[in-house]
Amino acid sequence: MDVDTGSDDAIALLLAMLSGRFELLGITVCRGNSDVETCTRNTLQVVDMLGLDIPVYQGCPDPMVRELSRGRVMNNALNRTSIVKDGKEYKVHPYTLPIPPARSEKQDRHACSFIVETLKSSKEKITLIPTGPLTNIGMALRMDPSIVKNIEEIVLMGGAVGTGNASACAEANFFHDPEAAKIVLGSGAKVRIVPLNATRSAGLYREDAAKLIALGTMAGKLAGDLINMRTDASDVMGTRGGDGEPIHDALAVAWVLDESVITESREEHCDVDFSGGACDGQLVIDSRRGYEHEPNARVAYKGDRKRFMEIMLDAFAKGPKC
Ligand code: BDR
Ligand code: CA
Repeated sequence: MDVDTGSDDAIALLLAMLSGRFELLGITVCRGNSDVETCTRNTLQVVDMLGLDIPVYQGCPDPMVRELSRGRVMNNALNRTSIVKDGKEYKVHPYTLPIPPARSEKQDRHACSFIVETLKSSKEKITLIPTGPLTNIGMALRMDPSIVKNIEEIVLMGGAVGTGNASACAEANFFHDPEAAKIVLGSGAKVRIVPLNATRSAGLYREDAAKLIALGTMAGKLAGDLINMRTDASDVMGTRGGDGEPIHDALAVAWVLDESVITESREEHCDVDFSGGACDGQLVIDSRRGYEHEPNARVAYKGDRKRFMEIMLDAFAKGPKC
């Protein structure tokens, strides 16, 4: 997994670790929801909470090229992930996760070296699940494009077909590093995309959070608390794009675990705009008929909220009790 933990990344990581269905070879971290050091510390907190021994590698502190252009420097104040109202701060992604501090340390090796070396030395193909900006994966593909032959598939959370969240038309992970997203989509790897369309169609509610907390596990409590925190923040900001609160990154993991959680998906020809204008970072899907574009990704459009919750409840019942 490649993450920018982050509230929904934390839930995605827990789902992957607790599902018992993956051999999680390592977790690489990029900048996104926060600076890369904070995202790494948050990731270590989550792994330590379960008492697991999964190596965490810190990756790129900045996007590949985006911020070399003055007009493209990310302004977090405009990104609407937190708000102060009546003296209280509401945040979609807490600065520190509400669990004990990390005990373990990140690995010395850089995330991109880990990705390249692990793929090159593996006898089996490996699936990548990136749930943050695609900087580390794009950089690894630039370091050694031959790694593509050992990628089973890339199942990523990112992009929006229509309304974005970081801008009118761009989703945050693609917006933060559009060049990296473009490299990944053009790499020839098998790609599945979980954009905002799917995550907004399968949002979770406060009653779902209550069910997770009632499981009596540390993972269930953290997931429930984070869902409530996200719900509070988007209620106050008025930013929610669907009915329930989208837990974006966890839906990508759920799609790897169970195909049926996505109820509508299509093979598409996908591109990413990186022109620096109003559409910077937009996922562009060419759905014209009669043009000879080969599809390069399967795009999820709708998810099954009920199935998503069943998958979550199944996994989050496991692990240390509160
Ligand atoms: C994506 O951006 C981040 O804020 C979330 O963690 C998720 O990966 C949603 O646009
Ligand atoms: Ca994320």
